[in-house]
Amino acid sequence: MPYQPRIDLDQPVRDRLMLRTVPGAVDYLAEDLRTLPATVVRRGPDRLVVDYAGPLRPLAAVRYFDVCAVELGALDTSLKDGALAALRPADGPVRFRVGEQLGEQRWELRDRLVDGYGWRNDPGSWDVNLEPHGAELGALYLTQRYGELRRTPASTNPIVGAVLVRLAKIQPGQTVLDPFCGAGTLLVLAGEMAAPGPVLGADVQSRWLSLAAENVAARGVPATLVRADARRLPVRSGSVERVLANLPFGKRVGSHRVNEDLYPGALREIARVLPGGGRAVLLTDDKRLFRETVQRTPLLRVIKEVVLARGGLHPSAYVVSKRGR
Ligand SMILES: C[S@@+](CC[C@H](N)C(=O)[O-])C[C@H]1O[C@@H](n2cnc3c(N)ncnc32)[C@H](O)[C@@H]1O
Repeated sequence: MPYQPRIDLDQPVRDRLMLRTVPGAVDYLAEDLRTLPATVVRRGPDRLVVDYAGPLRPLAAVRYFDVCAVELGALDTSLKDGALAALRPADGPVRFRVGEQLGEQRWELRDRLVDGYGWRNDPGSWDVNLEPHGAELGALYLTQRYGELRRTPASTNPIVGAVLVRLAKIQPGQTVLDPFCGAGTLLVLAGEMAAPGPVLGADVQSRWLSLAAENVAARGVPATLVRADARRLPVRSGSVERVLANLPFGKRVGSHRVNEDLYPGALREIARVLPGGGRAVLLTDDKRLFRETVQRTPLLRVIKEVVLARGGLHPSAYVVSKRGR
C-alpha cells in the first residue's frame, strides 16, 4: 500500500526533532540531512537532535532514522507550529499512548494530553507514542514511511541495510548479488536506493527465499532468486559488479566452526564472480576470521570498515574490492 501518512508532509513546521538511528549510521544520517532545512544541535551515538524548519516531506524520505520524536518538554511549542501541528488523524482527535517506561509520570502526562489538548488515549491505535526520549510520531516511523518487509529471525535491520547499499556505490545498470539473501532485505534496498541492472539473490533455505520473493514483488524490485550454496553459485565468473551480504555471524545463525569452512568458500566464490575492480560489502561479527580469510583469498582486500551496532552486537560492514580492472 502506498504511504498515506497521518501527517501533512507539505505543511512547513519549525521544531526540534530527535532522529534515532543505529550506532555507526549517524554520519550517514547527518550526510542526508545536509541538503535539508535541518541544523544538528546534538549528536549521540545512536541519534541526532536537529532544529528543523520546513515541510517534513524531504525528511520523511531519509532512510537512516527509524524514529522521529518531539522532546516531551516541547509539546506545547510543537503543537503551535511544529510537527505535532502537522498531524492529521484519520478521524477525530489525535490518539496517543504513554509508554510504561515513563513510570509515575504517565498519569499526569495522560491527563494533560486529554484535558489540555483534547487528545484521546488509545494504546491500540495511536498517532503519537510517548516515551522517555520524546513523543514519537507514528507517521514518521521508518516502517510507516517505507513499509514493513517480511523477515527471517536473522533479517538485516533496514538502516544497517541502507548503510551497506550506500557503501556498495552501485552504478546504474550494474549486476548486484546477495549470496546470503534470506528474506531479500538487501535486494529490495539495492533496487530502491540505486538503479541496478540484474538483481540476484541466493540462499540455502527455501523458506527464506519464499519470503524474499514476496518482498521483492511487494516492493516492485525485479530479482532472480535461486536456492544455492554461497560456496557454489550458479553465476558466471566476473559477471557481478556488486556483492552485498549480511553473513551468518556464527552466533544466532550458524557457528564459528561452520564459518571456518563457510567464509573461505564464500569469499573464494565472491572473488570468482566479481570482475576486477568489483566491490563487495559484507557484514559480519566474526571479524577476525573474516579479516584473516580475506587476507588468504587471492585478489581480495578490505578497503574500508564501518562498525555498526545492533541488538547487543557490534558487527562491521567490510568493503572488499577485487584487484584488477
Ligand atoms: C544473516 S542472514 C541474512 C539476512 C538477510 N540479509 C535478510 O535480511 O533476511 C544469513 C543467511 O544466510 C543463509 N545461509 C547460511 N549458510 C548459507 C550458505 N552456505 N549459502 C547460502 N546461504 C546461506 C541463511 O539461511 C540466512 O538466510
